[in-house]
Amino acid sequence: MEPAFWLEKWEKGDIGFHQEDFHPFLKEFGSEFFKPFSSVFVPLCGKSLDMIYFLQQGKQVIGVELAELACEQFFSENQIPFEKKELLPFQCYAGESIVILQGDFFQLEKTHFEVLGFFPQAIYDRAALVALPPSMRKAYVTHLKALLPESATFLISFDFPSDEGPPFSVPQSEIQQLWGMSYHVQLVASKDRSEFKPHCNERLYFIHAIG
Ligand SMILES: C[S@@+](CC[C@H](N)C(=O)[O-])C[C@H]1O[C@@H](n2cnc3c(N)ncnc32)[C@H](O)[C@@H]1O
Repeated sequence: MEPAFWLEKWEKGDIGFHQEDFHPFLKEFGSEFFKPFSSVFVPLCGKSLDMIYFLQQGKQVIGVELAELACEQFFSENQIPFEKKELLPFQCYAGESIVILQGDFFQLEKTHFEVLGFFPQAIYDRAALVALPPSMRKAYVTHLKALLPESATFLISFDFPSDEGPPFSVPQSEIQQLWGMSYHVQLVASKDRSEFKPHCNERLYFIHAIG
């Protein structure tokens, strides 16, 4: 999807993907998975309340999000004081223990983490991979692995019998193919979501680098 597609959604308030509570998989499996990690990266974060979950668990959070509106709304709706700084090519919204970099994920570099002072130990992907069409998913995972090759990933994905999206269907075989043989992809939980799309399942994967 082009940036204009998402920016228009935010401008129109057409954000059906946004959830008013922590994700059920995060509530059920998050504390165990994230226990060893003090920091979490949230790509394509929107204004997800799941970032509040991580703050409540005492984690440091770095998000990246294209839409300025999403960043503004995250901090104002959650009443978190923030400073706005430049961290080119991003605008950096910095609150206590949380930074959201407003800009294009694909322009994020390791040096941005260096400037922020740490490399997140874990990655939380909810509605990021599945927001991207097939051609962009490969670039997304390649970039994620280049930025944070050792970080463990908590991935929430959908699969259903259709090529239409977003959200797109991303089956386990594609996830294993995207991360490659140097990563262990573990299916942890599945939930029937046929109320959302016919034959739709929402699935949780833990992904770890091998060795
Ligand atoms: C389906 S939404 C999911 C948001 C969030 N993860 C959640 O669970 O609510 C996808 C988000 O990715 C953002 N986005 C899309 N392409 C992006 C990019 N290249 N860089 C950063 N953010 C992007 C969109 O603006 C949108 O907020």
